[in-house]
Formats: sequence, C-alpha cells, structure tokens
Amino acid sequence: MRTHHCGHIDSTLEETDVEISGWVHKRRDHGGVIFIDLRDIKGIVQVVVNPAEESAFKAAEKCRNEYVLKVFGNVKKRSTETINSNMQTGEVEVIASSLEILSEAKTPVFPLDDYQEVGEEVRLKNRVLDLRRPEINTRILSRSKISSSIRRFLEDQNFNEIETPILTKATPEGARDYVVPSRVNHGSFYALPQSPQLFKQLLMMGGLDKYYQIARCFRDEDLRADRQPEFTQIDIEASFIGEDEIIELSSDLINLLLGKFTDYQEAQIPSMTYEKSMELYGCDKPDLRIPLKLINIAEIVVNEEFKVFADPAKDKGSRIVALNVPNGASLSRAQIDNYTKFVAKLGAKGLAYIKVNSKKIDDMQSPILKFLSDEAVTNIVDTVKSEAGDLIFFGAGPKDVVNLSMSSLIKELGQDLDLYTSKWAPLWIKDFPMFERNKDGNLTSLHHPFTLPKCDVQELIKDPEKAHAYAYDIVLNGYEIGGGSLRVYSSRMQSAIFEILNISKDEAREKFGFLIDALESGCPPHGGIAFGLDRIVMLLTGTTNIRDVIAFPKTQTATCMLTDAPGAISAEQLKELAIKPLAKKE
Ligand code: AMO
Ligand code: AMP
Repeated sequence: MRTHHCGHIDSTLEETDVEISGWVHKRRDHGGVIFIDLRDIKGIVQVVVNPAEESAFKAAEKCRNEYVLKVFGNVKKRSTETINSNMQTGEVEVIASSLEILSEAKTPVFPLDDYQEVGEEVRLKNRVLDLRRPEINTRILSRSKISSSIRRFLEDQNFNEIETPILTKATPEGARDYVVPSRVNHGSFYALPQSPQLFKQLLMMGGLDKYYQIARCFRDEDLRADRQPEFTQIDIEASFIGEDEIIELSSDLINLLLGKFTDYQEAQIPSMTYEKSMELYGCDKPDLRIPLKLINIAEIVVNEEFKVFADPAKDKGSRIVALNVPNGASLSRAQIDNYTKFVAKLGAKGLAYIKVNSKKIDDMQSPILKFLSDEAVTNIVDTVKSEAGDLIFFGAGPKDVVNLSMSSLIKELGQDLDLYTSKWAPLWIKDFPMFERNKDGNLTSLHHPFTLPKCDVQELIKDPEKAHAYAYDIVLNGYEIGGGSLRVYSSRMQSAIFEILNISKDEAREKFGFLIDALESGCPPHGGIAFGLDRIVMLLTGTTNIRDVIAFPKTQTATCMLTDAPGAISAEQLKELAIKPLAKKE
C-alpha cells in the first residue's frame, strides 16, 4: 500500500512516482486546488490535488481531518517561495494522480493539526487519537529502542531471558497484591507478582547462572506521578557474584543508555551510603543536580531558649537542620509563605528562615532572630557558609517529618529557582540498614526479606536494628530507577529474618516453604537488581509523567480510562468463582 513513508519524501525523489498512505493531518482548499498534509508514523508530506485529476479531486473534496487515504503521485520540488522550512519534507510535494479514501473518521475530540493543551483525562479516554500525537508516539517508539538496547547489552553479557509465572503466590515487595480467584479451587487465589524476586532466586538455585527478564510487575499501592499499578522491570539475577560486580554491570548499562539516548558523557557513577544521604539530603534518592544540603545545627542551638529548635536538638528521634539557599534573600514573603504551606502538607509544623541580607545581624530579616542569641545566629551563618544575599531555611522536629519535608523542599527549590548544575546526576546509594521500625513498633525490611545482611545469624538476632545489608539503589535525577541486593543463601539465615519480621514458623512454611526447601538443596551465593523501565524511559525522554511512556496507562485511581477497567463481571462468572461481592463502598 505504499512505496515510501510520508515523512521520507524528499528532494532526492524528485520526479519519482510514489504511493503513500496515512491520515489527513490538515486539508486546505485554495481556490480550485486542494492541499492535503498527509501524516504517517515518519512525518507529514504535502499532497497537491488539481481539479484536472477529476476522480482524485472529487475524493479530496470529501476528505476531512483524520480520514485515512492512499495517494499515488509524482514528487515535485516546491517553488522557492513555497518551501516550508518548518517541515521535514518542506522542500517537496506530491502531485496526486489518484487518491483513495480507505477509511472515514468522525471529527476528532481534540485537534491533531494544531498543538493544543488537552486535559489528560480526555487524552487517556481517547488514547487512540492521543497516540497519533508525536509527543506520545515518539516516546513509545523510544521505549522500544531503549528496551532493545538493554536486551542486546544483557545478551552480550551472556544473560539468558527466562519467563516466570504471572499467576503465582504473593511476593512481598511492600505493596498490596492484586489477586485472581481460582475457578477450580474455590476460595483460593493467585497473586500477581509484585516482582519475579523469588522465581529468579529459584532459577539461581536451579543452576541457571545468569537470568534476565523484561518483566511485568503488579502492585496495589498509592499511585504517584512516577508509579503505576502495573509496570515493567528489567529484572536481573546472577550466581557467584558480588555486590561490586553487580554495580559495575549496572553502571555500564546505565552509562550505555545515557550515552546513547542523551548528551551525557560517560563517567564513573558516584556512590554514597544510605546514612550519609539521609543526613545530607533527608532522603535516599537525592537529586545531585541541585547543590543544596541539610546541615545539622543541634549542637549550636541545644542550649538556646527557643524551644522549637532546642527540644529536637535534645531528642534522639528528632533533627534540627539548616538549609542555605544561595541568593535566596530575594524570595518574596508570598514565596516563603508558599514554601511554608508546602512543607506543612508534609507534616512540618513551620518553616523558620533567616534572610542574610548582609553578614551583620542588624541587616538580617527573620521571625526567629528575637528568639536566638547573636552568638548562635553568627555560628549558624558561619556553619552553613551563608553569604550576603542568601536565605537559610530551618526544619525542626521528628526525624521522619524533617527528612520528608526538607528533602522535598530541596527538590521544589531546585525546580522553582532552576538551581540545576548539570543535566544528569546518577548516584548509587549503598549500605542500607536491614530493617526499619515502622509506626506500630514492628520491624520491616527496608528492601525485602531475602536481602543478605552484612553480619552473621547471631549478630543479626542480637541487634537487628544495627544490621546493614548488601543492598543498593541507583538514583537518577532524584528518581529511584533501580534497586537490588545480594540474597540470603542459607535457610538458617532466612528463618532468622522471618522470625525478626514476626513471621511465625507456620506462616513461613505456608508462604515460603518452597523457598526454604530450595535453600536446603544446595544454593549458590547470588544477587541481582531490578530497574524500573518506565521510570528510565520517562527520564530519558524528558517527561516527569510515567503515563507518557506507557501506551495504555492507568490513572491515579488505577483505572483504565479507555476500556473502563476494572469493571463488573457477570453473576454467572461470580458463581463459577464462588464469590459474593459485598455492597459497594459509598
Ligand atoms: P524494587 O521494589 O525496588 O525492587 O523495584 C525495582 C524498581 O522498579 C521500579 N518500580 C516502579 N516503577 C513504576 N511503578 C511502580 N509502582 C514501581 N515500583 C517499583 C523502581 C524500582 O527501583 N525484586 C526487587 C529487585 C531486586 O532486589 O532485585 C524489587 O522489585 O524503579
Ligand atoms: P512559632 O513560635 O510557632 O510562631 O514559630 C516561630 C517560627 O518558627 C515561625 O517562623 C515558624 O514557621 C517556625 N517554626 C515553627 N515550628 C517549626 C519547625 N518544627 N521547624 C521549622 N520551623 C518552625
């Protein structure tokens, strides 16, 4: 149906007969001559239909936007004054000798011939139209190229692609499971995998040595701009391998992608311990493009009368930090109020600040100067290396609140004030604690319960909170794009971890009996990593919305606007599955 793509017609084809097919992007009637911009996946070319070609002209008169056509014609160079330098094919046009309407189209819900901001809901509901827009389809095509680069890289490193089950048992990765009822075993449910974690470990125990999979994962969790309920991992596992080797392999992969799809110059990816990252940035995924850091000032303010600062300085579970913003003294009162509201949403009780108009205390502006001694103020200004014209923000309170609010403030300031010092900042975070204590006082795994601690079983049981893990995350521009670990390879260690996590022997056997048995059948030391493909494509294609890189994404409420999934099922199906739904939540 075509000899060439529309977007590939150029002056090298002058005087050549071509057959092209595509969508009517725009139609213009110019006193007797009809011009049609015909669009396909490669681009747009102008088709000229003269009244002398009677049958083609009749068909062209009927054409509307988004009709699908087949055109036969001859390529001609445009006259100098009609050359369109904004168009890839702007030097030429196709003079039609025949034109066939292959398919008609209703008036599109939003125009494609003119760029217009369209609400995301409308776009997702009409995803077929949306996919025709280059903003979306170039990203979907880049995704395909990125995936194949990753495949080629891993194949070259002798990794084998192996599929793992989708209908399976729960794999704990910290989210809720999506479950599928069984028709033949009433009352029993499959869980969709949150990741192929346990299966890739079993493959190592099965001697398969080097595995990868571009794997679909399912997690029922609170959604955000960089999260989807179903997403894709580049999942990797290898046997007889150490942390350094996995990090080297993964760094090579990320360098390859950044080098191929951006203007990034290959470099050693730096690494930082979890502890250092929390201290300096308040989070484990800092955006190192932004040169702002948190500085602990507990020692300076611990004896001040200002309780907002002095109390957290005395409390082990709290923090008091200062954040110097270069040239921040020019922030208006309204801007500061907005940042105060921003951190309040994240739990902060306030956002104290000092405008360092000059190094003289009399010149400074701040609601808290009256509560602090001159000595403390001078000491703070010196410690955070504040210069005249800077502004210092303060966060005080429980560690988790200060870390969350101040790390988010850093990212917000970076964006608002365009503080970026580079375009790409990859970073490894290493040496995570094995466990963290959650709000109800129980210990939970920081990664997952199959992560190898850096201590032996006795030490782990004695003081689990002190234990660190062979676990690592890779962060790019403030987004966690991958994470992995070395794995437990003895059943004794695995059972100890289950015990620490309050998983009883019976429960462990019921949920993970197959793993414990396999661990007792000769298990090689092994480890791996999984990258979030959607997030990588999102960053490499310059968007902050994960839905832009997924052909048919879900909304923040985990629904598909296009198909209306999830939906009801018939009474018949419910009966077969022995399921009785409760009344709908209001
Ligand atoms: P983890 O849970 O860290 O590790 O996931 C690995 C990477 O997957 C991406 N990711 C997501 N992307 C989009 N939407 C989501 N809801 C989502 N959740 C996670 C992130 C993340 O870094 N089995 C382990 C890996 C291992 O230990 O080998 C795992 O799944 O980019
Ligand atoms: P207050 O005494 O609550 O009026 O607070 C005095 C100043 O300290 C105000 O500028 C508040 O924004 C700020 N502030 C109050 N609580 C905190 C906190 N937990 N962290 C940082 N600043 C705070």
